Amino acid sequence: MTAPLRVLVTGAAGQIGYSIVIRIADGTVFGKDQPVQLVLLDVPQCSNVLEGVVFELQDCALPTLHSVEAVTEEKPAFTGIDYAFLVGAMPRREGMERKDLLAANVKIFKSQGKALAEYAKPTTKVIVVGNPANTNAFIAAKYAVGKIPAKNFSAMTRLDHNRALAQLALKTGTTIGDVKNVIIWGNHSGTQFPDVTHATVKKNGNETDAYSAVGDNAFLQGPFIATVQKRGGVIIEKRKLSSAMSAAKAACDHIHDWHFGTKAGEHVSMAVPSDGSYGIPQGLIFSFPVTIESGEWKIVQGLSFDDFAKGKIAATTKELEEERDDALKACDDANI
Ligand code: NAD
Ligand code: LMR
Repeated sequence: MTAPLRVLVTGAAGQIGYSIVIRIADGTVFGKDQPVQLVLLDVPQCSNVLEGVVFELQDCALPTLHSVEAVTEEKPAFTGIDYAFLVGAMPRREGMERKDLLAANVKIFKSQGKALAEYAKPTTKVIVVGNPANTNAFIAAKYAVGKIPAKNFSAMTRLDHNRALAQLALKTGTTIGDVKNVIIWGNHSGTQFPDVTHATVKKNGNETDAYSAVGDNAFLQGPFIATVQKRGGVIIEKRKLSSAMSAAKAACDHIHDWHFGTKAGEHVSMAVPSDGSYGIPQGLIFSFPVTIESGEWKIVQGLSFDDFAKGKIAATTKELEEERDDALKACDDANI
């Protein structure tokens, strides 16, 4: 019998939490033969809600759910975990940028970085969903240094990746399975660069590059990019709440692929610590195209950029450097 995986979800009493736990518990993420011990963390004020989520998970009668527990302290949450979905953080409201959350949320990730170092397995893999996701992941990785390698920390840009796939499929009258290899470069923010230069679309049995399939360069360099960049804000405007169902699904896609690997000939977008590839400063948590094999991601190498792409990548890099500096200052100032 396969040993259970111990999986932590923080912010499990929140919106994303409610959509994500069922997918982890029912085998969608780690497979139908892989038992899971689910640990749900939230703040003490949410302990009743958390208990309700535990009851519902029990009532789902899932063969893959080995156990589920609700906790409101870091030590029992982080002890012995294999995977951490770090979702718990304040979401933005209408009119805010994600980086406006930095001061409120960065302290959570400093504390959780330390808790990961102290209690989690050194092999633990981490996805940060809470915004500003890239910079929160940078801070968590920094405070877990020496115990958990930086390469085990990632931030979620898979939602942006999925949004880009969906927009291409809609524009070309195809379905998601016909579109592949879009890339999200940089920050999970309005400066991200959704890039279709290496994407392909299969239509009527023919696979072509996305530019030929769309036949409208102005669309791909204008409205397409803006739609993906601004989608989170538009959803907040419409729902008065930030995306949750699609965010939960994307987080599960991210960890599923990290666990099982990417398909041959395909890459996905994942924000990971830069190793200097493409001139991105070392250590920034930057979204790159990656392939994954045996639980290890690799940044796709050798892609070329035109001046348009270079300008977009420079802008998102600059924003991430500024966020990093602000976050480090916030950690020092608050002495947290
Ligand atoms: P929510 O407010 O519904 O839930 C957040 C939960 O986190 C709450 O239950 C809260 O009590 C809990 N929490 C706060 N501090 C915590 C702590 N220190 N430890 C544990 N739990 C804590 O918010 P949501 O809609 O679920 O969104 C969660 C985060 O995810 C937000 O920051 C949001 O902006 C972000 N988000 C990111 C993406 C992405 O693509 N990266 C997509 C959607 C949402
Ligand atoms: C999203 O992209 O939907 C989330 O990051 C929520 C937000 O603030 O946009």
